[in-house]
Amino acid sequence: MAAHSVGNMRVLVTGGAGFIGAHIVSALIRQGHEPVVLDALLPTAHHGPPVLPEAEFVHGDVRDTAVLAPALRGVDAVCHQAAMVGLGKDFADAPGYVDCNDLGTATLLAATAEARVRQVVLAGSMVVYGEGRYACPRHGAVRPGPRSAADLAGGRFEPPCPRCGAELTPGLVDEDAPCDPRNVYAVTKLAQEHLTAAWARATDGRAVSLRYHNVYGPGMPRDTPYAGVASFFRSALARGEAPRVFEDGAQRRDFVHVRDVAAANVAALEACADLEAGVLTAYNTGSGEPHTVGEMAGALADACGGPAPVVTGEFRLGDVRHITADSRRLRRDLGWSPRTAFRDGMAEFARAAQRAPGAAPAAGAQPF
Ligand SMILES: NC(=O)c1ccc[n+]([C@@H]2O[C@H](COP(=O)([O-])OP(=O)(O)OC[C@H]3O[C@@H](n4cnc5c(N)ncnc54)[C@H](O)[C@@H]3O)[C@@H](O)[C@H]2O)c1
Ligand SMILES: [Zn+2]
Repeated sequence: MAAHSVGNMRVLVTGGAGFIGAHIVSALIRQGHEPVVLDALLPTAHHGPPVLPEAEFVHGDVRDTAVLAPALRGVDAVCHQAAMVGLGKDFADAPGYVDCNDLGTATLLAATAEARVRQVVLAGSMVVYGEGRYACPRHGAVRPGPRSAADLAGGRFEPPCPRCGAELTPGLVDEDAPCDPRNVYAVTKLAQEHLTAAWARATDGRAVSLRYHNVYGPGMPRDTPYAGVASFFRSALARGEAPRVFEDGAQRRDFVHVRDVAAANVAALEACADLEAGVLTAYNTGSGEPHTVGEMAGALADACGGPAPVVTGEFRLGDVRHITADSRRLRRDLGWSPRTAFRDGMAEFARAAQRAPGAAPAAGAQPF
């Protein structure tokens, strides 16, 4: 899309005190916009006093209509990052995820409609795709089902062709791939998109879902059941231990730097007014450079001068084997491109501070 001159926008950033949200807030300020942060400061995301972003801050929950109306006053667009993330501990967490992520999104969208705000950018996720895209030498494009516990325990990590059992070649997933969420969190992320699409239809609004791939970078939370794999490796290395890599380490992911994700949000917010009204447009948001989890562990260990990764063969039932994005639509339509190369980003992440449990923030500290 041609560079479109946008005046400065007032943007409600839900979850703006979180890992990605805080980077979005910084990027908006740098571009001359006016972010307003709404964040409940969930204890699962903030183990200790949070570092608050340097923006107008409302401490509140997106499920609370009373805080939404004043927070939406004078706002041009909503950037919805607030969510409970990660896999949780077990199925008993399901109602909590649905409540926070889906009732939360519905409540926010209802208030957005009421306030006549017509632009929403949503933090989507690649988890909506389930297992990625594969090609069978005989059957072409196929979609393998979930891997069985027996196969995983037997070290058979690659999903076979569901029709003939042949070995498959993993490929890049584009936005038109069918959705196949495999866990409760993934279901809630897909429902957020459907709710936002329904909102766009009902209000003639404009909506974007940025389907983030594996986001990493400074400010990433430490290893909790809710954190990403890069965090686990980083924390192990900080303790002087080798990163423990599950399966055989050859599972492929797209690791995208948090500053690039923040820039994608700014690009989507600035372009939103020119997008088609009444629909939600989804954009994969990845680096376009797939790497294996083993490579990622190796890059972090190198950068830390720490012990080499250990491949353990352990697995988590419900994890997908390979999931890598085709992010060309985002590059083409919004003129976005990732700026942080894998090696550089991992080297920086290896040295960056993580959000520490119980650590008090320095006055006015800006971790980014
Ligand atoms: N980190 C990743 O790799 C990744 C990948 C794909 C998608 N996402 C999505 O990106 C968004 C941001 O994730 P993150 O990694 O920054 O997580 P995070 O936990 O660091 O940030 C989420 C923030 O939202 C807040 N929050 C949660 N529920 C809320 C509610 N009901 N009301 C108000 N605030 C609430 C939390 O307090 C937290 O500050 C989420 O929607 C997540 O699903 C993240
Ligand atoms: Zn086949």
